[in-house]
Amino acid sequence: SIPVITIDGPSGVGKGTLAQYLVCKTGFHLLDSGAIYRALAYGAVKNEIALDDIPGLVALSTHLPVEFKATSILYEGADVTSKVRNEEIAAVASTVAAIPEVRAALLQRQKDFANLPGLVADGRDMGTVVFPSSPVKLYLTASAEIRAERRVKQLKNQGIDANIARITQDIKERDERDTGRKTAPLKPAADAIIIDTSDLDIQEVCQKAESLLWE
Ligand code: CDP
Repeated sequence: SIPVITIDGPSGVGKGTLAQYLVCKTGFHLLDSGAIYRALAYGAVKNEIALDDIPGLVALSTHLPVEFKATSILYEGADVTSKVRNEEIAAVASTVAAIPEVRAALLQRQKDFANLPGLVADGRDMGTVVFPSSPVKLYLTASAEIRAERRVKQLKNQGIDANIARITQDIKERDERDTGRKTAPLKPAADAIIIDTSDLDIQEVCQKAESLLWE
């Protein structure tokens, strides 16, 4: 069968960068499942669907007009890549992602990515729910404090002064929502390989994953 490499873990742990690296190395396709939840959040805001309107959110999920073209996210054919990557959309995404009916409505769509010839799947529940029979499951971790420090550095490089306490608080709140929800809570699959990235830079994380995958 077609191989799927799953990468799960909390917000800001470097999954996206590792996923992109493995895509380049293998020529596999990418499923950025977070982008699907972000696209749903974008559509909900755009169509003024209330975040407690479950039938409305499910209806949108079922026919979600999102497509992936190269590194872009298209919504109704328009490029929304930068629009969905902001904190407002992230907060809405993590709220709608906690609704079981919404997750159920998006499940088959994600599974269908396994029809592609080779897949790297990045998210929270790739190894536990969407691709439980994947032979290769990676789970990245790092403390909230370390992830916050990395984020602050990243923002500083963009010329943005960020408050470390505030960012740490945001990350902890997102972790709580991701691990505390009843449906598909964030946790490593029983057969996942856990990579603690606390003392590793992104290159070392990629090297480590590579050595685990092809040893
Ligand atoms: O970049 P970051 O990790 O902060 O976010 P993301 O991976 O783009 O995911 C956005 C939101 O979707 C997260 O807050 C998760 O709560 C949710 N999500 C999920 O519930 N399940 C997934 N497989 C992927 C994302």
